[in-house]
Amino acid sequence: MGKQGRAVVELSLKDLVKDLNKAYCDEWLAYYLYWYMAQIVSGKAFEDMKEMLEKIAKDELEHATEVADLIIKLGDQPTANPMDLEKNANNPYLMPPKNTADINRIIRIVTEAEAGAIEVYNKIAKKTLGKDHVTYQLVTHILSEEVDHEEMFENLLER
Ligand SMILES: [Fe+2]
Ligand SMILES: [Fe+2]
Repeated sequence: MGKQGRAVVELSLKDLVKDLNKAYCDEWLAYYLYWYMAQIVSGKAFEDMKEMLEKIAKDELEHATEVADLIIKLGDQPTANPMDLEKNANNPYLMPPKNTADINRIIRIVTEAEAGAIEVYNKIAKKTLGKDHVTYQLVTHILSEEVDHEEMFENLLER
């Protein structure tokens, strides 16, 4: 992003990048969590759950990529050290269940993580509405995917 691209952002770039970096860290934690649970899940019908978790993990990694790209465009850099991901995130890492066949626990963990993500992107969307169209467009796109993720898993709970 060039000088004018940044100049039209009617927000503190420092605050904006801080918010985006926190979201970036959340995405890595979500990616790792879902990817990990996709590997360990066992029990009845584990293959469906594995497939869903792998699909969503891929989406979260894509979100991390998109947010990183924006942070760089805004002239900054996302968190470099993976040891700092949790420290810099909005929400702590949710531990996967010890019992790998506990599908209900996995669903609860995912819905909790997604609820957190929805809250984070909704906050950034509100902050950037009318002030930074580029960020607004990206975060509302990601937000709609997090809403879909939550719904996919909530539907499983209701069954
Ligand atoms: Fe995400
Ligand atoms: Fe998600």
